[in-house]
Amino acid sequence: MGKFVINGGNRLNGTVKISGAKNAAVALLPAVLLSDGVCRIENIPAISDTAMAVSILQSLGADVKYIDKHTVEIDPRRVNSFTVAKELSEKMRASSYFLGALLGRFCHARVAPPGGCDFGVRPIDQHIKGFQALGANVTIESGQVDAKAEHLTGAAVYLDKVSVGATINIMLAAVKARGLTVIDHAAREPHIVDLANFLNSMGAQIMGAGTDVIKIHGVEHLYGVSYSVIPDQIEAGTYMVAAAMTGGCVTIDNVIPKHLESISAKLCEIGAVVEEFDESVKITAPNTVKSGIVNTMPHPGFPTDMQPQITALLSVADGTSFVNENVWDNRFQYVDQLNLMGSDIQVDGKVAIIKGVRNLEGHEVKSTDLRAGAALVIAGLGAKGTTVVDNVKYIERGYENIVEKLTLLGADIKRID
Ligand code: UD1
Repeated sequence: MGKFVINGGNRLNGTVKISGAKNAAVALLPAVLLSDGVCRIENIPAISDTAMAVSILQSLGADVKYIDKHTVEIDPRRVNSFTVAKELSEKMRASSYFLGALLGRFCHARVAPPGGCDFGVRPIDQHIKGFQALGANVTIESGQVDAKAEHLTGAAVYLDKVSVGATINIMLAAVKARGLTVIDHAAREPHIVDLANFLNSMGAQIMGAGTDVIKIHGVEHLYGVSYSVIPDQIEAGTYMVAAAMTGGCVTIDNVIPKHLESISAKLCEIGAVVEEFDESVKITAPNTVKSGIVNTMPHPGFPTDMQPQITALLSVADGTSFVNENVWDNRFQYVDQLNLMGSDIQVDGKVAIIKGVRNLEGHEVKSTDLRAGAALVIAGLGAKGTTVVDNVKYIERGYENIVEKLTLLGADIKRID
């Protein structure tokens, strides 16, 4: 099992180039199944989650050709299976997108409930509600979700909860359904807009992505295209927080600054300076991190996927901070690990109460999920002494070349097996 060994205390300085967005890429890859031709997808992050999505496509019979590390050509025409093997789907959360994509392609999909990070119950009732509204019969038998329809017909779907996954899955199933589908109370994350742009470039008719009402006029055919994935908002935010933690000054390159607004605003509130350029932002760390209040919310609110990282930073703030987790039930499991490093954080239900300490001390810690792992790396970069972060397989699910990127910025970090 891999570990990161971090000697803390180095300021991060320089420029880091952000990779393609994990959460967009894992939606675009299954969407290729809906195409009648070859799709070329560029700017795919080279991480284990996207490799897993490509493996699932291959297991279904798609021809896959890597042009380079970040560009893949996929010919889905010979796909003849609507079943994703359980051992593959259990390895990633976004395997549920194969339900929507296969249902859209074959009117039949069979996929085991998804795996991924464990931060509380991860239901898919809203996905199923959407498939049923489109005319599918959905059953769960021997650990597999089976969705089947004679044909799919557009329908109105009101989501009881803003769900990224349900919004994406219903879009995938509806894009070739007969007639009009309206998703109300839809999620508005940048990767939802990216998926809509990708499908529209293939010939789909999707309007309103990025608002809470998405309208989809079903079409008969989608065509092969070339498309480039948007930059990763959460990877960018993670490097911004790392810069702030170490007292550094870092240019975060290849980003869409608009996607970072909630993160930039919060970092400014606690004392950092963030300058925006066309495709980059530059963050200068505060002399003293001020305490703050963070409320995680669906987009355009502060992203839950940045909650552990900002908590790590606030652990050394001047005063007491409050972080309210409003999206997931159980996303503070990493706090015990941070407290091993000397932070003073108490969790009361969905709130973390963070009494700022002068500094963190290096310790052996374990990442419990992807973003929690990133938070421990940030803590280690700012701590005195040596931190060893165990279970880095979680971190490598979502951060491409994290050791190399941090080393280029001046961090003392290495990976050991
Ligand atoms: C996606 C992201 C994940 C992020 C989350 C929220 C991907 C691959 N993953 O996950 O990193 O943390 O959005 O921004 O893009 N819910 C239901 N019923 C459902 C679906 C969801 O009650 O059918 C609830 C969940 O329990 C959770 C909330 O809705 O409390 C948000 O979940 P959702 O937006 O669906 O998250 P994911 O798509 O799984």
